[in-house]
Amino acid sequence: MNDTLRLDSENRSLLLSTREAIPEIIYWGAKLAQSQAVHDSGQEPVPQASLDQRAPLSLSVDAGRGLFCRPGIAGQRQGKDWSPVFSLTKVETIAQGLVLHCEDPVAQLAVSYTLILEADTDLLRMWVALTNHSEQDYELQHCDLSLPLPSDCAELETFGGRWCQEFKPHRQRLDHGSINLTSRYGRTSQQKQPFYFIGRPGFSETQGRVYGFQLAWSGDHAMNFELLDSGQRLVQLGEHLASGELVLKKQQTYQSPEVLMGYSDSGTNGISQSYHQHIRQKILHWPEARPRPVILNTWEGIYFDHDPDYILRMIDRSAELGVERFVLDDGWFKGRNDEHSSLGDWYLDTQKYPQGLTPLIDRVNQHGMEFGIWMEPEMVNPDSDLFRAHPDWILSLEGYEQPMGRYQYVLDLQQTAVSDYLFERIDELLTDNDIRYIKWDMNRELVQPGHKGYAANHGQTISLYRLLERIRAAHPRVEIESCSSGGGRIDLGILPYVHRYWTSDCNDALERVMIQSHFMRFLPPELMGAHMGAPVSHTTGRQHQLSFRALVALFGHFGLELDPVKLSESEIKDIQYFVALHKAHRELLHSGRFSLLTNPGDPNLLAWQVVGGNREQALAVFIQKTITQYSVPPLFPLTDLDPQRDYRVTVLHGAEPRELGPMKQLPGWLSEGTRLNGDWLMRAGLQLPVMQPESAFLVKLEAL
Ligand code: GLA
Repeated sequence: MNDTLRLDSENRSLLLSTREAIPEIIYWGAKLAQSQAVHDSGQEPVPQASLDQRAPLSLSVDAGRGLFCRPGIAGQRQGKDWSPVFSLTKVETIAQGLVLHCEDPVAQLAVSYTLILEADTDLLRMWVALTNHSEQDYELQHCDLSLPLPSDCAELETFGGRWCQEFKPHRQRLDHGSINLTSRYGRTSQQKQPFYFIGRPGFSETQGRVYGFQLAWSGDHAMNFELLDSGQRLVQLGEHLASGELVLKKQQTYQSPEVLMGYSDSGTNGISQSYHQHIRQKILHWPEARPRPVILNTWEGIYFDHDPDYILRMIDRSAELGVERFVLDDGWFKGRNDEHSSLGDWYLDTQKYPQGLTPLIDRVNQHGMEFGIWMEPEMVNPDSDLFRAHPDWILSLEGYEQPMGRYQYVLDLQQTAVSDYLFERIDELLTDNDIRYIKWDMNRELVQPGHKGYAANHGQTISLYRLLERIRAAHPRVEIESCSSGGGRIDLGILPYVHRYWTSDCNDALERVMIQSHFMRFLPPELMGAHMGAPVSHTTGRQHQLSFRALVALFGHFGLELDPVKLSESEIKDIQYFVALHKAHRELLHSGRFSLLTNPGDPNLLAWQVVGGNREQALAVFIQKTITQYSVPPLFPLTDLDPQRDYRVTVLHGAEPRELGPMKQLPGWLSEGTRLNGDWLMRAGLQLPVMQPESAFLVKLEAL
């Protein structure tokens, strides 16, 4: 008997076997020929000294069937029904997908798996839902998707660092046991980000069989990569729940966050491109189709020092630079002179702004720019009118002292009065003022997040989504940025409600190369807030020339994070040039196919490349992080070009003598540009000049 279920997209196939009582994924990868003659489950040998029959590696990994690994679903009711065993009851076909309904009549639990293979992006979208059918409550411990992987996929790449070190990559090889990464910070976190690659050891951006995973969730989450003694590998992804956090009453259902899984047999770039395309087509909700406006954000320019007259000068100068959106960061609301007070009191500080915000907004609008504002709605300082009036509005556990983070507490959004208060404050602010953008911040981790005594991370996350949804519905033209001490809340769960992320509080261009390179492996460049900061980085003290700061920010949602009034004449000219350069190319940058290119010929050198839809044009920025490895730089192969066509290669920036490294003779093509064949550029490469450390070199390719 050959019982297989099959889904196909443009380039991928997913096969499940239903031969056993519970379906198992038996293949997920490059598109297979149409044939029923496949190796379905149950064909493996049963080795000596093992259970007498093979245990199916289902999407719930039932321990009760004899799998000696972490079960996909765990919970209990009064100590019982702790080891459910599910069997398939119904297969439902939906657009591009399947819903597999399974039940355990003994434990009185039902589980369903939704699998959707996106037709044109080749991504697999999945979630699991668990329903309690018993009169007795079911306490859920975890409810994850368990996904089998080919046995050669032994290398895991995870991401995360700390404040100012988002998206730091880590590679680990799994030869025994399991690797578990649990994020318990209450927010997505900078430390353990819900982005993963697992592939054949040595996979790179351009080579090797590899799978990519993103979990769409902004609260606690967990990933378990496990090797069974049979040699089978699996990955489990889901929400991390605290004890007693999720209790299902009769007929209640828990639905897990979505997992978005990609596959490539030639490195991670193919997966990145699918992710970008899917996000652009299916998740982003733009009030109108227009380019991402160039931003000036006031934070590193003036911090809490708000003087409306001075800010008017900043606005005028911003307009002169070509800025299109002026964002007033922290410090504008009642009594907010430093980080110790006032969060929660979302009323304008009339001492600082006796005329209100109107003069600023009018000036911004006169210049044809739009106005944005910073808020941190989920937080309250003990030193605030809000906290004095409602000390019981915070997440906490009675009997314990709630620790502070950045001198603040977290509001309990599950209390209707709290969410209503925040909605009312934000709604009024947006109704009374022509504000087009909120930088929505969230600056601390959650500790003992208690609601009525129960663990509340799950409820808090859902309530945040509902609040954002409510604000979006009331003010559909207002864009929102997800910021959390920089990149502490970058995930697909929040993306349906926001328009971009603040990638990192680190504006040091060299650190940003690492942060942004890996951000763009999962998320498209236009979602990546990328601002060029002051010459000396405020978070690292490192100094960089203007062109390096600008070119590193160029591919993202470009902006400035500095005081524009303090710029010299030459800095003004240079910034005007780079703002114009970004505007001239942002359409390509924010719609094209992105590739990260590293080069074993010089590990200190990398490139970001974006190619337009029909391979007519491309931009590539080459970044020399530290000093060149050898005296002559390698030929640098590009990707994704048309092998049949020749391209005109022109330098857009970086060939000025002051920016290049010491050379007696430049590569010949630099002065007049060159014509090179696409196949040559991909197989042999482009000859780069000797570059200075911490410099970048931007080229444009146009098909002839
Ligand atoms: C956080 C953000 C910064 C800035 C400050 C303001 O740290 O990440 O960009 O907005 O808050 O307090």
